[in-house]
Amino acid sequence: ELTDVTTLLLSRIRDVADYPEPGVMFKDITPLLADPAAFTALTDALAGIVGSTGATKIVGLEARGFILGAPAAVRAGVGFIPVRKAGKLPGATLSQAYDLEYGSAEIEVHAEDLSSGDRVLVVDDVLATGGTAEASIQLIRRAGADVAGLAVLMELGFLGGRARLEPALAGAPLESLLTV
Ligand code: PRP
Repeated sequence: ELTDVTTLLLSRIRDVADYPEPGVMFKDITPLLADPAAFTALTDALAGIVGSTGATKIVGLEARGFILGAPAAVRAGVGFIPVRKAGKLPGATLSQAYDLEYGSAEIEVHAEDLSSGDRVLVVDDVLATGGTAEASIQLIRRAGADVAGLAVLMELGFLGGRARLEPALAGAPLESLLTV
């Protein structure tokens, strides 16, 4: 049974067939961002997860995790920290490499942005295979911080990301506002 908020969010996500490659159904969140009622509802929901998990910081994952995570951090009154693709951050970084279906990727965070005592909520738009979220959790732990949870707008249930993340999350909650 869908709540009013889930119905609203779902109605503002556009399915784009065969993007970025044939056979893939891309979930486009730009209609949601363009609708202030939907974007506000999403921001409030994410800020609520900051409260329920007791998080003291939000880490947003490039690029759409920035768009969702930053207003939620402001709303919740916690700091926002970007986890970026390698080579984009100017200061001293911690890096984490992870495997993709073909090849590998690397993400980074400014080392000085996280330390022991921080409780971090990771925010992103989509949980697919879980590779990006898993690497970000490893990065946060290596920085000495605790992971309060992972919050995503959409979980692609058929890709098994939730099961993959279970060991990394170590009991911390995975909150997905929509499962598709
Ligand atoms: C997408 C999405 C997540 C990640 C999920 O980002 O926004 O960050 O992939 O996939 P996974 O669970 O299989 O790791 P993308 O790599 O397209 O980067 P972008 O947001 O910078 O375009």
